[in-house]
Amino acid sequence: MAAMMELFNLERSFKIGRSTVRAVDGVNLRVNEGEVVCVVGESGCGKTTTGKMAVGLLRPTGGEVRYRGKDIWQMTPAEFRKYRQAVQIIHQDPYSSLNPTQTIGDILAAPLMRHSIARNRLDARNRAAELLRTVDLTPPNDFLDKYPHQLSGGQRQRVSVARALTVHPSFIMADEAVSMLDVSIRVSLLKMLGRFRKEMGMTYLFITHDLAVARFFAWDGRIAVMYLGRVVEIGPTPRLIGEPQHPYTKALLSAIPEADPRATRNKERVALRSMDVPSLKNVPPGCSFHPRCPLFVPGLCDVEVPKLTDIGHATEVACHVVAAEHARAEGSKVPG
Ligand SMILES: Nc1ncnc2c1ncn2[C@@H]1O[C@H](COP(=O)(O)OP(=O)(O)O)[C@@H](O)[C@H]1O
Ligand code: SF4
Ligand SMILES: [Mg+2]
Repeated sequence: MAAMMELFNLERSFKIGRSTVRAVDGVNLRVNEGEVVCVVGESGCGKTTTGKMAVGLLRPTGGEVRYRGKDIWQMTPAEFRKYRQAVQIIHQDPYSSLNPTQTIGDILAAPLMRHSIARNRLDARNRAAELLRTVDLTPPNDFLDKYPHQLSGGQRQRVSVARALTVHPSFIMADEAVSMLDVSIRVSLLKMLGRFRKEMGMTYLFITHDLAVARFFAWDGRIAVMYLGRVVEIGPTPRLIGEPQHPYTKALLSAIPEADPRATRNKERVALRSMDVPSLKNVPPGCSFHPRCPLFVPGLCDVEVPKLTDIGHATEVACHVVAAEHARAEGSKVPG
């Protein structure tokens, strides 16, 4: 499958006073054409910073972002404009990203006119109506002349999606796009976004702190679990959920409430050594998860940073213990 977006050793640090915070610390990630990749992790682990760099809103302090094989910061101004049009963003809070003084019709018409997609005002209004149908806000005439505050949270988020679609993007970066919505509304929005993969061949980088949302949205895609600025596990969703390998992924999973109580009973409970998430200003040496990890090996885990290692089943894990177990299992396989 062709890579659409590739992040290579991506880094971003921020200076805060005299200290430097490494918000993103060497992230490697590839999103193939038509694929959905979810980035999951606790608040503050660098998800938004990663997403912003992927869509060219923030310049990395190290590494590269490649879109269709080209380093985005080496693009010509014309190429960069095209890329910025092809990658669109859906934010967490549609209320703050929609202009409260404009009607829904005007909000959608603006990019259509600006990018010369619509020929005139009437064409823009017709196209806006069509976009509202695409995001299931029907009949469109009930919405075109309304203001954002007259809509529900779920409807506003659908308008944000419609606005992202005005410029025919190939790639959507959604950052906590359903986090502020009620569960039932959340599901219908996720289903709609999923439908766009079939209907438009849309590719997604989907960011969420909620592993249950990632599981639902990316069941046929992949999940990347982030911890303190690094990816600690990445793999196909059913595998990552069904057989999590990294101790942190296991801990995250054991915190998800299950609809089926039997699943909860069978799920491995992970007792962390500490509940505190270390500060980014003072990231623990070696594996940054070591102060919390139940499998911690002194002298190894607190010294050496574990690299992402391919452990088969299209899964990569950054953990000394898991990598050693995998190597042992491979070594004990009878050849032939
Ligand atoms: N513009 C900024 N200036 C300083 N620090 C920032 C900035 N943006 C993010 N950070 C810091 O980077 C870390 C990661 O933030 P963020 O990417 O927003 O995490 P997440 O989206 O996973 O919650 C946090 O500690 C945050 O405070
Ligand atoms: S490298 Fe060590 S501390 Fe880190 S997750 Fe693996 S076992 Fe735990
Ligand atoms: Mg965030």
